[in-house]
Amino acid sequence: MRIANWQHFGLRENPYDTSPLKEGASLPIQKAFVGREKEQTFLDHLFLSGNRVCLAVCGDVGVGKTSMVNFHKFQWKYHKEQLLFSSRKEIEAHRNLLTKEAFLLEIIGSLLREIELLDSTLVKDELLAKLGTFLDITYKKDLSFEANIMGSGIGMSRDTVIDKPDHLPMAKLEGYFQDLLEFIRRNEIGGYRYSGIIVHVNNFDVVLREEDQRHRVVQFFGEIRDLLQTPNAFFLFLGPSGFFRQIIAPEQRVKSIFHPAPMMLEPLSKKEIVHTLDERMNILKSETAQKYIKPVSDEVVFRLYDIYQGDIRSIMSALNDIVSQYSEQVRSPLVLDEAMVLLGDALWERISQTVSLTREQKQLLLHIAASPSPLTQKQVAEDLHKEPANISGYYFRRLKDAGVIELKEQKGKLKYWGLTSQYLPLHEYSASLIRLKEGQSELDHQLSMF
Ligand SMILES: Nc1ncnc2c1ncn2[C@@H]1O[C@H](COP(=O)(O)OP(=O)(O)OP(=O)(O)O)[C@@H](O)[C@H]1O
Ligand SMILES: [Mg+2]
Repeated sequence: MRIANWQHFGLRENPYDTSPLKEGASLPIQKAFVGREKEQTFLDHLFLSGNRVCLAVCGDVGVGKTSMVNFHKFQWKYHKEQLLFSSRKEIEAHRNLLTKEAFLLEIIGSLLREIELLDSTLVKDELLAKLGTFLDITYKKDLSFEANIMGSGIGMSRDTVIDKPDHLPMAKLEGYFQDLLEFIRRNEIGGYRYSGIIVHVNNFDVVLREEDQRHRVVQFFGEIRDLLQTPNAFFLFLGPSGFFRQIIAPEQRVKSIFHPAPMMLEPLSKKEIVHTLDERMNILKSETAQKYIKPVSDEVVFRLYDIYQGDIRSIMSALNDIVSQYSEQVRSPLVLDEAMVLLGDALWERISQTVSLTREQKQLLLHIAASPSPLTQKQVAEDLHKEPANISGYYFRRLKDAGVIELKEQKGKLKYWGLTSQYLPLHEYSASLIRLKEGQSELDHQLSMF
């Protein structure tokens, strides 16, 4: 795959970067964030209605959970009447986090690091220096622990006397957390005064995907329940669609301290996604270019929206794939058929890098891709005049193992197969290619008349 040359489009950087928006990244979150007005209003009301919050934010992969919470944190950190302090780096919900001790250490570490980023003179304060040294020793004890504080340089001075934490008395750790929260409420940080903190815990889908982790996550929430009721601390836990229903709701003790309903995030609308991409190009326009050229026309984004059911990450990945195939000098945005052929080329390239297919296997894949609905192995065997026994072992298994096709549905004994979501655009490939070729031969024909 070729790397796109964004300067050709009059852009400084890739507008289709799929990482979440966050404070301090090269794409400024306050400009690049689009939509979600309803959610912001709800969150603002919730945050104004009391001095603590515990909310589950749920949604499918890539729907925009992290970006939305990062934007909310950013607004409350700098642009509200009463401000709340937060770390720009979220706490990741990995398997090592699932104890109260690890959770408190991560919170303290991420807050300390953020304070240092905003005002490095504050870390000389007695409390912060003490906490810094404390974390430093704790984490050096277990270097495999992934920690926010590592390498921050906070508290490297050894003149503060503290206990070496072979086992951490919980009361002491909780005390440190309270002290830090009070410090944040009492002191100006980076020119701002804060009345509390937001704690953002990201990606419960990652641990929940691991076998046997579910009951550990449920246990974890039971263990940190009292901590979640700390005044002036606002907790946001992000997870998959079923996170609240499966993890929080069944435990009445835990549920009772959460906001009674999760926030369920839906995909941005088509218009919002087009707007998102336009905004990014405005932000990333080269200073020396008079205008930028959109790599693809809006109809391409609309089509990708339908194919990927609004999943913005997949849409942007597909746009990256399209542009990576674009070798000529760009003069105008690609129209639908041109874009779908380039995307198809990129996907075929990816398949051939993943798995080597014989001509017959490719032909079979093309047949499945061209079919408007999933097919049984028997249907494919009949269509292509093959032995059904061969189809299953020799053809299907290879494509299934390579993640190109999957079982779509089963009716009784009949199994229906189709493309996996990543390769869905291959449905359009042949038809777009034929239309383009026809257009080309029509053009050749017209030119030959002169
Ligand atoms: N409201 C928005 N405005 C502009 N861009 C957005 C918005 N929401 C999400 N994006 C973009 O969409 C992509 C996916 O967003 P994000 O990473 O926040 O989703 P997520 O739900 O946290 O994903 P995951 O399930 O992988 O954690 C990112 O590239 C992000 O920049
Ligand atoms: Mg995320």
